[in-house]
Amino acid sequence: MKITVVGSGYVGLVTAIGLAELGHIVYGVDIDAEKIAKLKRAEVPFHEPGLEELLKKNCKAGRLKFTDKLGSVINSSEFIFISVGTPPQPDGSADLSFVKKAARDINRCAKAGKITVIKSTVPVGTGKMLEKILNKNRGRVFKVVSCPEFLREGRAVYDFFNPDRIVVGATRESIGYRVMNLFSKIKTHKLITARETAELIKYASNAFLATKISFINEIANLCERVGADVDEVAKGMGLDNRIGPKFLKAGIGYGGSCFPKDIRALKQLAGGSGYNFRLLKSVIEVNNKQRKFFIEKIKKELGSLNRKTVTVLGLAFKDNTDDIRESAALDIVKALKKAGARVKVYDPEAMVNAKCALGKNAIFCDSPYSALEKSSALIIATEWPIFGDLNWSKVRVLMKQPFIFDGKNMIDRQKIAKFRFKYFAVGK
Ligand code: UDX
Repeated sequence: MKITVVGSGYVGLVTAIGLAELGHIVYGVDIDAEKIAKLKRAEVPFHEPGLEELLKKNCKAGRLKFTDKLGSVINSSEFIFISVGTPPQPDGSADLSFVKKAARDINRCAKAGKITVIKSTVPVGTGKMLEKILNKNRGRVFKVVSCPEFLREGRAVYDFFNPDRIVVGATRESIGYRVMNLFSKIKTHKLITARETAELIKYASNAFLATKISFINEIANLCERVGADVDEVAKGMGLDNRIGPKFLKAGIGYGGSCFPKDIRALKQLAGGSGYNFRLLKSVIEVNNKQRKFFIEKIKKELGSLNRKTVTVLGLAFKDNTDDIRESAALDIVKALKKAGARVKVYDPEAMVNAKCALGKNAIFCDSPYSALEKSSALIIATEWPIFGDLNWSKVRVLMKQPFIFDGKNMIDRQKIAKFRFKYFAVGK
């Protein structure tokens, strides 16, 4: 099949490359000419393991082309995917202006109606609204189908080809099947639903995962008061098949481009439809508080931070990505700096992005060890596996004071026991 993918950001690019790898002819479109120039040189503009190899392979095979001119490719495509950004507005609801603009551009350029698949995360009812924009001129019939995206950053290539499920929401089942057939090579659960149902599945899934994280973080805070160990509590809970072990890792809360935005958007969506979603409000509140509690813990144990050197390892919102959006690490760095500390930082991938966001709040170092020289505290803020496996005797010698604050509960206490660190985790 021939497919145009409008929007070559994170989701759009993974979708375009993934569809090409499945054998389709794909045209990736973006209004950002600089980004398109990069993609034409087969360069991925962000860090995502395995993506650049697939980009090169599919460009070379002639299945993948990029352009900033929608009109030049849309009429030779059978399907159009919309995967542009839906950033949060000040009230938390999703800003649909890019999605609407994409629909207007398609309306202007397409000579015939086409099946238009919406990949961007959009509130319930957006499919219906887009269908109106797309069908504004008479004589062409566009059908809008929802196909929500469940990719995790850092594991997006794996997730594209090995999804837990593919959900397609359409107003007619036959149209849903046509979209589902694009993924015929992928063996997984395939669910065709009403369009509104598919739109809600995406939000509900992210909200549930965020709820699991906030729940275990509440349990962690309780553990600290009653002398229990949250990792063991989570293990014991997760052995129950009905609960499962995933997303029960306590720490400094969730961040990223999806969870914070989508949970707030769902809360707004519920409010807008007259429903007070009490649980979601608590999920958000718990998550915001979690990083604050951690900062308080550091301040309480270290005493005055004035002129003390401290080290934050990890700036990305999680491992395997250079994405720092809504990363708890940034709030931690800023709070420590505000309290008078010299904050040395290191992240394997997110340094360039973090430099823009943190500026003079931090001293950027080229390794965990240089960041730890003469430091009074090691603070882990991202779950990069290397931070759990440092050379602890070297770390101990480098540091001025032996404090470790593990915001991701990733250091094995036994490994560090003989070096007499003062170790503080979350929920232990
Ligand atoms: C998420 C969803 O998983 C994905 O399906 C959706 O399409 C986009 O949003 P992503 O934002 O890439 O993906 O990150 P994810 O791996 O889900 O982690 C989100 C945040 O939760 C991270 O900050 C992570 O550190 C945190 N987290 C995750 C925990 O604190 N504890 C956990 O047990 C799991």
